[in-house]
Order: sequence, then C-alpha cells, then structure tokens
Amino acid sequence: MEFLGLKLTSTKQFPDKASIEFVLDTANKMEPYASGKKYTEVLKDKVIATLFYEPSTRTKLSFQSAALRLGAKIISETGIQFSSLYKGESIEDTMRMVEHYADLVIMRHPEKGSADIACSALTRPFINAGDGHGQHPTQALLDMYTIRKEKGKIDKLKIALVGDLKFGRTVHSLCYLLKFYDSELIFVSPDELKMPEKVTEELKKNKVKFSEVNSLDAVLPVADVIYMTRVQEERFENRDDYLKLKDSFILTAELLKKAKKDVTIMHPLPRLKEIDVSVDAHPGAAYFRQAGNGIPLRMALIAMLLGREKMI
Ligand code: CP
Repeated sequence: MEFLGLKLTSTKQFPDKASIEFVLDTANKMEPYASGKKYTEVLKDKVIATLFYEPSTRTKLSFQSAALRLGAKIISETGIQFSSLYKGESIEDTMRMVEHYADLVIMRHPEKGSADIACSALTRPFINAGDGHGQHPTQALLDMYTIRKEKGKIDKLKIALVGDLKFGRTVHSLCYLLKFYDSELIFVSPDELKMPEKVTEELKKNKVKFSEVNSLDAVLPVADVIYMTRVQEERFENRDDYLKLKDSFILTAELLKKAKKDVTIMHPLPRLKEIDVSVDAHPGAAYFRQAGNGIPLRMALIAMLLGREKMI
C-alpha cells in the first residue's frame, strides 16, 4: 500500500495485515517524539489544515499536537457556522481553496460521504477525521495500536464491541481492520443498534468468527478486550428512541468482578454513563491511554502521507 500522497477516507482502503502493521510499527517509532523525550522538525516546511465541522476534542487536538510535534504549522477551522460552508459554499470549493493554503488536509464533517466529496476536488493528501456515521479510520488505527500495546498482540483474542454498533463509526472502521486478524469478535448491542449487515458480511467473507448477543453477562467472563461505545444521540432521528436505548449497557467496577483479571477496557470517548467512573481505577481501564495513543499514531500517518517518516 502506497502511503505517500494517500487520501485516507476509510479503513476499507487497507488491503492486508502488513499495511496495518507498517502503520503501527511507524507509530511505535514516533513514541519518543510523541512524549516530548525527543524533538524533530521534519515537517517544518509543511502547513497542515485541520478542518473540524463537527464537534471534537481528542481527534482535533491530537492531530494538531501530532503536527506540531513534527514541526509543521497548522491552519484550522472549527464549526460550520464560522466557515464559508455556512454561507452555502460547497465542500468541493472549500477544498479547491484549502489546497492552495496547506500541504495536507484533515477534515471532520457531520455528513457520511463528505470525505469522498472532499477528495473528489483535492489533489493534496487527505485524512478523514470522521464523516457522520461513516468512517473514522485514524480512530480505528489507534484502537489497533492500543490493543497491540495493551495485550502484546491482536490475534487470538476475544474482543467484545459493546453499545451503539449501528451508528458507531469507530466500530465499523475497526472491524474492517480486525478482519485481517485471527481474533474472535462478540457484538453486544440492543436489537435496534446491531452491527450493520455490510460489516458482518465483510467479516464472513474474511472468515472472521463473530457472534451477536444483547447482554453483557455471557461476555464478561470470556472477553480479553471490552470496547465500550456511546449511544450516538446526534445520529438518531427520533429522540424517544435514543432515550429508550441510551443506558442499555453500563460497565461498573462491580460488574468487572466477573471479568478476566487481565481484561482491557477501551472506549473511543467521549463517554457518558456507559463506563462508570468506578472503572477508572481498574488497571485494565485503557481508554485514557488509548486517547494518548492518538499522538504517535497520527504523527506516523501525517509523516507517511507526506513521505517523511524515514527521515525521523
Ligand atoms: N474519539 C473521538 O473521535 O473523540 P472526539 O469526538 O473528541 O474527537
């Protein structure tokens, strides 16, 4: 897989395990720079545009921090209402402008498919930082990086994905990477929020073992990784449906007594009630470490798309 100049819109672009492992290995090499122990200005001649038209804390700040730790300069937009999209400018025209201003474009937008629309008008490398309930490829890559760091491997694990599997773009993106690994997936959701068929069909095609259940009880004693997700209020058309489902699964320290001793608990964050704060002291509570892993992983991708990763 060629990373130089890539427009990364989806984890479906990854053709094999080797391409994923290459990104994770490059992220590992970025660790001393991500933590500030070492310093690089390998991108000091580059300008990176971070365009966030949908709310974000982690993705926006970690992309900006990653770019700054590589020595790049940043230009940014935050919120549609403060951009010319609000005046009716198209995403395509916005890209036709931004490519004069920046060497790499990173965009989050509330509409599924907006990343592909942006890329249709862009000649620069691009990273989709989340397009509605579509894809969030860098979250999935940092999730893979976190699993590898926490468990020492991604194969031969039982990984439970819990919560809003219908609208959760992070779990969809993650499955398109996990399909190359020999782990077993357990989908835990209410019937209304099941993993979409397009994802389960892809898993079947790749002979990935998976099951679908609607209770945490059977999962807790066997899961090596429990990946909790927020029920995505912003994706529901009917608020009553959201209110009915929002607290379907709440992980507590008490419940975790039934889990494996070395269980790893993940969440893309932000969390609402689905992980009780009593879980935070558990040694396997990896969700804040997971968010921190966004820095080396995003440093790796930015450097790779600009062809500078070997210079670090
Ligand atoms: N995980 C994630 O995408 O978080 P933000 O919405 O805060 O960027």
